[in-house]
Amino acid sequence: MTKVFIGVAWPYANGVIHLGHLAGSLLPPDIFRRYNLLKGNDVLMVSGSDQHGTPITLTAERQGVGPEEVAETFHRINSKAIEDMGISFSLFTKTHNPNHTEVVHDIFNVLRSKDLLYTRQTMQYFCQACDRFLPDRYVEGSCPKCACSNARADQCDECGTTFEVGEIKDGRCIHCEGCPEVRETEHFFLRLNEFQERLLSYLEGKDHWRPSVKTFTRNWLEGGLQDRAITRDMDWGVPVPLDGWDGKVIYVWFEAVIGYLAASKEYSSLIGEPDLWERYWKDDSARHYYFLGKDNIPFHSIIWPAILMGYGGLHLPDEIPANEYLTTKGGKLSKSRGTSIDLPSVLAEYHPDLIRYYLSINMPDHRDSEFSWPDFMTKVNNELVAELGNYYHRVLSFTRKNFGKIPEAEEADLVEVRDEVAKAFQETSRLLDDCDFKKAMKSVMELARFGNRYFDSVKPWALVKQDRVACGKVLHANLEIVRGLAIMASPFLPFSSAEVWGYLGFESSLEDAGWDGHRVPLPVGQGLKDPVPVFRKVEIEVEEPIDQGFSDFRRLELKVGEIKSVCDHPDADKLYVMQLDTGEERQVVAGLKSHYSPEDLTGKKVVVVCNLKPAKLRGVESKGMVLAADDEKLGGEGVRLLTPSDDLPNGTPVDCGLEIGGGKLDYKDFQKVDMKVFNLLKGQETVSGMVLETPPDADSNLALVCDDGKARILMAADVAITIDGDLKDGATVR
Ligand code: MF3
Ligand code: ZN
Repeated sequence: MTKVFIGVAWPYANGVIHLGHLAGSLLPPDIFRRYNLLKGNDVLMVSGSDQHGTPITLTAERQGVGPEEVAETFHRINSKAIEDMGISFSLFTKTHNPNHTEVVHDIFNVLRSKDLLYTRQTMQYFCQACDRFLPDRYVEGSCPKCACSNARADQCDECGTTFEVGEIKDGRCIHCEGCPEVRETEHFFLRLNEFQERLLSYLEGKDHWRPSVKTFTRNWLEGGLQDRAITRDMDWGVPVPLDGWDGKVIYVWFEAVIGYLAASKEYSSLIGEPDLWERYWKDDSARHYYFLGKDNIPFHSIIWPAILMGYGGLHLPDEIPANEYLTTKGGKLSKSRGTSIDLPSVLAEYHPDLIRYYLSINMPDHRDSEFSWPDFMTKVNNELVAELGNYYHRVLSFTRKNFGKIPEAEEADLVEVRDEVAKAFQETSRLLDDCDFKKAMKSVMELARFGNRYFDSVKPWALVKQDRVACGKVLHANLEIVRGLAIMASPFLPFSSAEVWGYLGFESSLEDAGWDGHRVPLPVGQGLKDPVPVFRKVEIEVEEPIDQGFSDFRRLELKVGEIKSVCDHPDADKLYVMQLDTGEERQVVAGLKSHYSPEDLTGKKVVVVCNLKPAKLRGVESKGMVLAADDEKLGGEGVRLLTPSDDLPNGTPVDCGLEIGGGKLDYKDFQKVDMKVFNLLKGQETVSGMVLETPPDADSNLALVCDDGKARILMAADVAITIDGDLKDGATVR
């Protein structure tokens, strides 16, 4: 029994995890873990949310909430999505956690006591107006090389040049647009340079590592390793465990990798065996695997080994099977580019095994792979459903219908079949041992194809009429293949495998049978259960297949309208009766009297809900509603109208993608929807804990957030809808 430690790169808790995370770093370790458990190995697999660093603080500032709220919100959302996808960790924890801090401090103190950390003055941007040091991601300016105007202080994404502090031109603080100065500040440095030789010898014998892992690692080592600052001028993070270091925290990358050890210890305490972690970390014979995307490589092949060497006595990474990228239309699937597909939305629509299948058969394990919904549909329907699912079902349903239980076997029939199954197990095993997941999935599918060919060749549907006993025998052989497939596919497709296992009539679990469970004779006479097909075909028509839910609900129809005239309601103090032009004439009654004068309103362009059922308000007919937001409850100015930021023709549709009500939309349906508006900053990715489907293209964009859990930007043609005045974020729309 081998002890296997599996570390999985910690996703930043600044957004919802998406298919890129799943294909890149989450699914491979889960396949590997399940496989190792079936082999009877002793597995510890940990990860968690990476909750510190500028990715979190930037998101928090954009959303106008504290970093802890962002870090906790996404930790919660992501933990659930991971679980729903069937990715099971021994522990999926988080870095903003006392145990993590304690372990990081221990390592910090030990390295410091060994003189592997030292302090040095460095230069850093400082914004006088904001009275704070600015991390690199907080300063933007123009690139001295390619002249692009929105380069980050540490790197120009346009041309790839990296900068030292002070090199970027016309640097500005992203908060106040002010011009930061460069100031001295003291930081701790890790003597990475001291590890050069030891790292080189550690890397000997790692020639089988994937090419990208070797290249990234070699590139760092080539020029000689530089000592690295491991603290930052920030408040959010793991504090420096020394007096006089307020306002500085340990650099997120330095502490996040320590999470692997911290989570192992936390898990041990949680299960009441506080020393358990030592079994994996202090044993030479253990095998340590780290799964990550290729942008994380040097942190796992250089920094983390150096920290472990410096600390002493702990196992170094053995294998780092880093994946390439999942791409879409040639580019990396990424949240900031608006091409990510988040897991909760995918899970709302598709069975997790379908997604797991597609990402396994299309895994970017050796080169980038392209994701597309049409390809997803083709592979799921033509391979998973048509080959594996179909084979399971024809064997299980035919045998159940005609025999009800596992029929007698004929050794002679089984020879060819057993040989084929054994070969498939051997091949899949070899590939899984090498973390060659895509090929391993293909090898499973080969056996399914063999099964179908075999079933066709023995023609049980004809045989059952001629020779029932002989038919039972060939079905027994087919059931052996089905069982083999269920075991072999289970690391990839755990849900359907467990179902098939149940249809075969087993009481104990597939896990108990283990990887070698295919060698045991099938229990003749075991009752079969009524099977249901384990996979269903998917229908995807358009490019963007993820239907936004609420499918039989009616889309809210919003249009730009102009207020032509305003008069008082004859019977109500607070209401106006307004004539509007929304491409057609309509009369709308609105409670705007305490907030706008008729003069203010006349001629104004507004956003009108056009498909409400006409209603009478105190006896006067109203056809539709004018959208306004109210922040009185938040202590703000009160009610302001939503209005297009540019002059648009009356009747221009406003796109919001919100669907409410069932059948006819009346005021009551509308009022049940809890809608809020938020001001956005250009490029902002999330708002109020939700992911924006499209990132805003300007600072003045407005997001509409509804209680259907979606946030959408309001646009009419390509003109943004804004608020007529200043309202606090979270103002209620009515
Ligand atoms: N949060 C990092 C990212 O998403 C990965 C951290 S891996 C760790 O790129 F090991 F450092 F935690
Ligand atoms: Zn500033």
